Amino acid sequence: MFRIAVLISGTGSNLGAIINAVETGYLRCKISAVISDHSGAGGLKLAEGKGLDTFVFSGKTTSDNIFEVVKEDTDLIVCAGFLSILKGKLLEEFHNRIINIHPALIPSFCGSGMYGMHVHQAAIDYGVKVSGCTVHFIEPGVDTGPVVLQRTVDVLYTDTAEDLQKRVLKEEHIAIVEAVKLISKNRIAVSGRKVLIK
Ligand code: GRF
Repeated sequence: MFRIAVLISGTGSNLGAIINAVETGYLRCKISAVISDHSGAGGLKLAEGKGLDTFVFSGKTTSDNIFEVVKEDTDLIVCAGFLSILKGKLLEEFHNRIINIHPALIPSFCGSGMYGMHVHQAAIDYGVKVSGCTVHFIEPGVDTGPVVLQRTVDVLYTDTAEDLQKRVLKEEHIAIVEAVKLISKNRIAVSGRKVLIK
């Protein structure tokens, strides 16, 4: 069974989408761990309620602590609203095996400081007509790895950042599940910056 570890920092709605997809059989995966860098993350309660193993790590050793949890038997690490920057051995040993969901169309509105509502406010302030979400592989740096898939939404003239966030989040829940499904079925090939869906 394809084993995934899900990293969260907040509500965990993307985690919830993955859990639902596993429960319906759409994803043939086992969620082997839910790991957060914030003990108050709502997603931890969701995970515990489903009987999933949870861990909380924070500070300078977060990446190393995560590596100790995942190193033996994890096929894919899924950052689902995880705010800490991963580094070190974890990135080396899990090259092209860590994905992240970003609530914008990378390379727009991404990078340091661009998370959560900041992203959507920047899109509204810029006046873009479309936005969306991106699933990408994680590499050293922030939001820089190869793009696995993207989904778009219209941005309406009357939209607030909250309106846009709600619309994008619905697409995130689809995108994160699709990306896990493709990778679990070995339908992704990475060549440099480009990702082929086989
Ligand atoms: C999502 O908008 C995600 O794109 C961003 O953080 C948010 C997490 O939301 N990285 P949730 O915790 O999955 O509800």
